[in-house]
Formats: sequence, structure tokens, C-alpha cells
Amino acid sequence: MLHGKRILLIISGGIAAYKSLELVRRLRERGAAVRCVVTRGGAQFITPLSLAALSEDKVYTELFSLTDEAEMGHIQLSRDADLLLVAPATADLLAKMTHGQADDLASTVLLATDKDVMVAPAMNMRMWEHPATQDNLRTLQARGVRVVGPEEGDMACGEYGLGRLAEPDDIAAAVSDFFQTSAPLSGRHALVTSGPTHEPIDPVRYIANRSSGRQGHAIAAALARRGATTTLVSGPTNLPDPPGVNVVRVESARDILAACEAALPVDVAICAAAVADWRVARAANEKLKKNGGGPPKLEMAENPDILASLAAPANTRPGLVIGFAAETELVIENARAKREHKGCDWILANDVSPKTGTFGGEENTIHLVSAEGVEDWPRMSKTAVANRLADRVAEMQEILE
Ligand SMILES: Cc1cc2nc3c(=O)[nH]c(=O)nc-3n(C[C@H](O)[C@H](O)[C@H](O)COP(=O)(O)O)c2cc1C
Repeated sequence: MLHGKRILLIISGGIAAYKSLELVRRLRERGAAVRCVVTRGGAQFITPLSLAALSEDKVYTELFSLTDEAEMGHIQLSRDADLLLVAPATADLLAKMTHGQADDLASTVLLATDKDVMVAPAMNMRMWEHPATQDNLRTLQARGVRVVGPEEGDMACGEYGLGRLAEPDDIAAAVSDFFQTSAPLSGRHALVTSGPTHEPIDPVRYIANRSSGRQGHAIAAALARRGATTTLVSGPTNLPDPPGVNVVRVESARDILAACEAALPVDVAICAAAVADWRVARAANEKLKKNGGGPPKLEMAENPDILASLAAPANTRPGLVIGFAAETELVIENARAKREHKGCDWILANDVSPKTGTFGGEENTIHLVSAEGVEDWPRMSKTAVANRLADRVAEMQEILE
């Protein structure tokens, strides 16, 4: 249920910290990779050595650790995780999170993260009931932090009340539920192509186009955020790799096809790369020179059709094959024809004539052409297009099977 998921487990200094050993096991049994951060308080209750043995990974404790910063900075700890889980969460750490305090590794990672955070509070019932703790909890929940427990029961201090850490099994189940609802594409494999291609003329010159790769990269990121194991085959762009995406950087149309074929089988393929239709049939081995004989005669050859080849009937055909149609005229008509001709399921048609500023710009106007008809989406950012498309893909579960 948690296969491929990476949990950063932050253990703070409560008596229930001993249960975090059990929690590591429960999470790993479900398939998750678990990496631990322990506060100084946490390390009073549980040894990093036990956690390292059970998680089979290094345990992180210090913010000012030169080795860790060189090998694994505090930012990287968050980048490498799909979810930050604080269990047990002390009243103290909840207060730090609420107020943005960052005076140790755990609180700094929690402030520096853009990932989802889940907390499992555990403390004496009076600490739990204190208006300061309750206010902090409300603030954190309003910011989207998920809370598991606490439970009612006997306390280590001999009292009875609300404040016991939720059982490790229940915390692991809450983590699974979180991924199932927030990650509807969990367990699915997605392939996205993005960017322009460079078709060599000689060792220093190439034919390219104006695609920035923004739309394809945003789609790969949106699919990965929804839990899909995502491969992005990208032509040359200046964009950073989207988080959590396996990026294969290539140059030419033929490279893209080879990388796509290597990524199969996948459940959904989205071809957003602006692939050159033609290449120079025989790129020169040496730089072409002006030698008074006039311009070189470049004989062109047709490139492979990546969308059509992914959409062709075969055992490896993805359940859903989606292409883009960048058009400068007759946008819908051309997109309809392209869908039929390529054999793909959906075409996202967009007008890329210069007046629209779509190529290289931040926004896009999409018309989704399918067998059912045409959906016109309003003009929106490329990130919003990516999110909407990823949500539509997630609705197609039975086709992805
Ligand atoms: C024996 C003992 C047990 C404690 N248990 C808890 C607890 O269950 N929950 C809690 O919020 N604080 C507990 N505390 C207090 C925290 O350890 C203290 O607030 C500490 O500063 C927390 O540091 P941390 O949040 O950086 O881990 C306990 C302290 C001691 C000495």
C-alpha cells in the first residue's frame, strides 16, 4: 500500500518515542522507505542506533553537522520525502511548528518543507488540553497539517485521559489513507515527454523550436504529486527537474522515442514534447564550412512519430495515450484529424500562433479533444492546465487498468 513512498519520520522527546520503533516496522511492512530524524529530546528516550537498524538508513539528529550538510542537507531531507510524519509530536515541537521556530534539525526541516505533514501528538492530558496546545493544533490544521490521535487511556504519568500516542498500526493506516486520497494515481506509471528537440546539422549546429518544456514539466510534476511513478523524457530545456520525477534528458526525436520505449510499460503516456517532424538526413561529422560553393544542401528525413508509435495497438500500449496539438490555425479541426490519424485517446489542442504567447509563456488555452467531443478549458497557467489534466487522468482509473 505504501510501495515507493518515502516517509521522513520525525521523533520528538515524549515518553511514547519508544513506540516509534514499532511504527517504523509497520510503515516498512506496508512498503514504505522510512528515514528518521530524532530531536535531542527524542534521543533521550530512544537510541538512534535502534532506529538506524530498523529503518536500515542513517538517522539524522544534528542541524549543524558538516558531514550531513555536505552529503544530505536539511533541505534535501524534505526533498527526498513524500510525507513528513511527526510521531510522537511533543507539545514543544507543535509549538515550534506553529510559530515557525527553527532552532534544531527537526523544526528546521518542518519549516523548510513544501511536503505534506502529518503529526501524531502524545503528551500528558493537561498539556494536551492547555489552550496553548489547542490553539497551536487549530493553527496547524488550518495550514493543512493532518493530525492522527491522540487517544484516551492510561498515561505513563499514572493519570487517565486524552493524550496517548495513537497506536502505530493506526498511524500507519492513516498514512496509507493519506496517500490513497491525496495520491489517486498511486501505483500507476506515467510517461511524459517535454521540451523541444535538437536535430543536428553538424557537430555544432542544430534545428530546434521555441518550446520551453514548461507545460510538459508541469504535467510530470502534477502526475507525480498525485502519486504516479513518473518518467519525464525531456528534450533540451533550462528547467530544473520536477520533484519526485525520474528525468531522462535527451536531444533528438529518435532519442525521445528510444527513451519512451525503454520506459514502457506505463499506464498513461502524455506527449507534450515539441518533436521535430524532420531531421537532417545525414548530419555532417565535421563542422560545415563556407567554402564559396554556396549554402549546403540539407536533405531532410522524416522523424519517427512518437505519439503514433505509443498509441499503436500493442501489448505495451498505455491505457491512456494523450498528445498535444500545437496549431496556428484551424485548431480544433486539425486536432480532431490528428487524434484519428495518430490513434491516441485525447488530444490537447492549443493555439501557438505568436499572438497567443503560448510557446515559452506561462499560460495556455486548451481544448481537450476526445471520442466524446471537445472540452474548452479557459485560459489558465500551465501549472493549472497540468493539475486539471492530472485530475482528469485520475478519473480514468478503469481505462488505466
Ligand atoms: C520523562 C519525560 C517524559 C516526557 N514526555 C513528554 C510527552 O509525552 N509529551 C510531550 O509533549 N513532552 C514530554 N516531555 C517534555 C519534553 O521532553 C520537552 O518539552 C522537550 O523540550 C521536548 O523537546 P523536543 O520537542 O525538541 O523533542 C517529557 C519530558 C520528560 C523528562
